[in-house]
Amino acid sequence: MRILITGGAGFIGSNIAFAIQDKYPDAKVYVLDNFSSGHFKNLIGFRGEVITGDIKDKSLWEYLRKHFSFDVVFHKAAITDTTVMDQKLMMETNADSFRYLLDAALDWGAKVIYASSAGVYGNTPAPMREDRGLEPENIYGFSKLMMDHIALDYMKRHPDMRIVGFRYFNVYGPRESFKGKTASMIYQLAVKMMRGEKPRIFKWGEQKRDFVYIKDVVRANLLALEKDVSGIFNIATGEARSFNEIIEILNRELGTNLETEYFDCPYDFYQEFTQADIGRAREVLGYEPEYSLEEGIRDYLKFIR
Ligand SMILES: NC(=O)c1ccc[n+]([C@@H]2O[C@H](COP(=O)([O-])OP(=O)(O)OC[C@H]3O[C@@H](n4cnc5c(N)ncnc54)[C@H](O)[C@@H]3O)[C@@H](O)[C@H]2O)c1
Repeated sequence: MRILITGGAGFIGSNIAFAIQDKYPDAKVYVLDNFSSGHFKNLIGFRGEVITGDIKDKSLWEYLRKHFSFDVVFHKAAITDTTVMDQKLMMETNADSFRYLLDAALDWGAKVIYASSAGVYGNTPAPMREDRGLEPENIYGFSKLMMDHIALDYMKRHPDMRIVGFRYFNVYGPRESFKGKTASMIYQLAVKMMRGEKPRIFKWGEQKRDFVYIKDVVRANLLALEKDVSGIFNIATGEARSFNEIIEILNRELGTNLETEYFDCPYDFYQEFTQADIGRAREVLGYEPEYSLEEGIRDYLKFIR
């Protein structure tokens, strides 16, 4: 099996690369990345090859079409900083390049498993379901929604092609540290509290998110690899938890008693509550999250330490 992982030097992509390496030792795995938010250190121990390039570059896809062939493409490369406001750059990187990739995959006869995002739902009411509330609040969410439109169009025009899109909610876990300020709040708070510093969050910490551990996300990707299906799926735990709860869990796990400092949220747009309906992923993929927030944080702390 020949596998391409775009964004493979990043958080989710590198975790997929290692999972594939473990589960399919004979697979030939290539990572394609431009090392903008990813880091080579995420790939220490990776036995495959790296292709350095920009997914926006049409000639790169021509080169790949000509010289390579893949059975599966995990597409995780994207501008992942949701505060980037350059609309043209965001659309070219996340949405337009996806067409080049799908055309190449069509040539190769490859299955495509790509990353969409819960950002497509903006601030619409929870639980978020794949077929409603598609009202992104920023250009990042819009670019991901446009990727879903492109995917649905290819699925319709090429019914034999297999395309799976994942709308990830808030993913946390090992190998996210190079994302800097865009790494999960769980990572940021854990690091601060391990230094003995007080956790700081927006007033009054009761905003809730559907946090999902990277191991569940990787398992969803492996299920998509194994199943003969196409479609777009929410990937989350289906349970919303608050920032106050994260701090409570961290205090308990770290044996600390650090008091929370609250400050005003500086953003005009801030999601108050996200929670996924994961019924479709359960039914079609057999996806079942295995890590509660408590279990995920406990497992993650072993790596952060
Ligand atoms: N982490 C989350 O909570 C989350 C939530 C929803 C969706 N997603 C999506 O999952 C995917 C992976 O995200 P992540 O959290 O691993 O982020 P990440 O920033 O760690 O990974 C993105 C990778 O893509 C690479 N990249 C960026 N632009 C590129 C370009 N033009 N050409 C080639 N490579 C490029 C980066 O260098 C990086 O290695 C993204 O598509 C993201 O939008 C992530």
